[in-house]
Amino acid sequence: MRIGMLTGGGDCPGLNAVIRAAVRKGEGLYGHTFVGYRHGWRGVMGGQSIPLTIETTRGLLTRGGTILGTSRTNPFKSEDGASLVTGTLSRDHIDALIAIGGDDTIGVAHKLGDSGVAVVGVPKTIDNDLSATDYTFGFWTAVQVATDAIDRLHTTAESHDRVMVVEVMGRHAGWIATYCGLAGGADIILVPEEPFDIDEVCARLRHRHAQGEAFSIVVVAEGAVPVAGTMTLQSGDADEFGHVRLGGIGMRLQEEIASRTGFEARVTVLGHVLRGGTPTAFDRVLATRFGLAAIDAVHERDFATMVALQGTEIVRVPIGQGVAQSKTVDPGLFEEAAVFFA
Ligand code: F6P
Repeated sequence: MRIGMLTGGGDCPGLNAVIRAAVRKGEGLYGHTFVGYRHGWRGVMGGQSIPLTIETTRGLLTRGGTILGTSRTNPFKSEDGASLVTGTLSRDHIDALIAIGGDDTIGVAHKLGDSGVAVVGVPKTIDNDLSATDYTFGFWTAVQVATDAIDRLHTTAESHDRVMVVEVMGRHAGWIATYCGLAGGADIILVPEEPFDIDEVCARLRHRHAQGEAFSIVVVAEGAVPVAGTMTLQSGDADEFGHVRLGGIGMRLQEEIASRTGFEARVTVLGHVLRGGTPTAFDRVLATRFGLAAIDAVHERDFATMVALQGTEIVRVPIGQGVAQSKTVDPGLFEEAAVFFA
């Protein structure tokens, strides 16, 4: 078979490990050939591809980002987008496509699958918000980077008696914030799932400082929102999937905390640092197992499926299940984290 591969959405540690594993098994064991499309669906629409072989994918296990490049292009945004995709696939004699991405990329793959494209999805996002899989690769790398940062920020917090606000990614789900907050010993964690009351946040901080602590760590997910009418926020431009560019809640919190409590406060926005660099061991293994499972699904012609981690097993689920709903933080887990709040 001739197999196309693409990476879409935000870059994520482990994308290259998936590509490497799929090619290693696909070419080495099954004798398939591979084509990599550049910059997600944009490259499929424009017919931009590179050959992928065992030789050209050597040494990728530890490399962050994606050698294919990525974009947030949505073929269904333009009238001829889907036909450009199918035109390229037939011109390139592609028998099957492996789409590696988050809800947007997998959502497009799902729609194309419905119209007859032979497709297998591989779930990725540092946000860990895809349903049907316990974890997406990239998530634990982001949690580790954020935890290391919080450990370091403790130094300044303690030395200067400051409230350090740490903003992490997490658009609809606060998985990164919850886990790095737990691992880093945060005093308050704010997530999109639980609108926060700034009065209550400040009251908790005052209470903690009245007990003798002179510093605090507040972790906030970029998508966290205040209870309606309690704090103003600014919003940015939207991408082709309708997602507004986030970032700014940390700065607003720093301002509000400082002015309401009189405590010195500083913000650190970790942003894309969380997605950069080499994947952790867990993410390397998960991405590798996803790549191997994806090529098995293609080889067995089990299309319109997505590979997923359930418990310790890699399974296949109908691709629609992967994007059926956004997986938000389990309230039980958040309650556990809240035991340590100020
Ligand atoms: O891929 C998910 C994510 O990392 C979100 O957490 C974040 O909101 C978004 O990507 C940022 O995307 P971009 O790099 O396009 O600004």
